[in-house]
Amino acid sequence: MVCFSCNLLFMLEHLLIVNLCFIVPTGLFHSALRKSSLVEQTDMKVELLPALTDNYMYLLIDEDTKEAAIVDPVEPQKIVDAVKKHGVKLKTVLTTHHHCLANQNHPFDRICQFDDFLIFVLLFQVGSLNVKCLSTPCHTSGHICYFVTKENSTEPPAVFTGNTLFVAGCGKFFEGTADEMYKALIEVLGRLPPETRVYCGHEYTINNLKFAWHVEPNNEAIQKKLTWAKEKYVNREPTIPSTVADEFTFNPFMREKSVQEHAGTSDPIEAMRIPKN
Ligand SMILES: *[C@@H]1O[C@H](CO)[C@@H](O)[C@H](O)[C@H]1NC(C)=O
Repeated sequence: MVCFSCNLLFMLEHLLIVNLCFIVPTGLFHSALRKSSLVEQTDMKVELLPALTDNYMYLLIDEDTKEAAIVDPVEPQKIVDAVKKHGVKLKTVLTTHHHCLANQNHPFDRICQFDDFLIFVLLFQVGSLNVKCLSTPCHTSGHICYFVTKENSTEPPAVFTGNTLFVAGCGKFFEGTADEMYKALIEVLGRLPPETRVYCGHEYTINNLKFAWHVEPNNEAIQKKLTWAKEKYVNREPTIPSTVADEFTFNPFMREKSVQEHAGTSDPIEAMRIPKN
């Protein structure tokens, strides 16, 4: 059974695809034009490594042990360079979803990747950091997000969301339903601590915010974030990370009420017509 808000999510996703006028050519975000950046905490560091057209790979570093994990590796040389730069031991490869793994023959200790049919919560460590696998099927049926915490730390945890949650948006439902995306965004990721830093798989923020603004023209959080994201873009800087709390202020897929108002109807077909007026 699909709930009402899931129907709305489904409609939103389709609107996002059909409204081509929102789309900035992705070539403008190409990794050759984007700077890497480092998010530093005393317990962990996260280096953002722009890759391919608009992807991010992330080097997660445990400061205590100098052990590291790479999230969604697609460009080996950039990873080797970053590992050298930080002088860390790369022990773990984390992939959020199956079509992102470029080379299955890694010389690493552990590859955390799941095929269909496995639904679970799995815990492991990267040095002294605790990593929890969150099953978020939808973009692909085996999609995993990785939630990273450090025991007794007062600093924000991190979540690597791959193609499930983007800044101000969500992934396409390639292998899933709106019902599953609702669960992933609201019931799994939405229940993480609000200060959790969100590291997603692609630089789609500006396009997502333009769509969000269309859905909620009077939402100041969206307008502010869009202005900020455009400045970042001009400076070739990433718009990542955001936080779980922030996503609730501007991500239309996490703001059920505003979406219902935007649609203005309980008839999904009727609601589909609205943006084309
Ligand atoms: C975390 O704090 C608890 C309670 O103070 C303590 O027992 C535990 O050893 C601490 N864990 C670490 C890894 O420091």
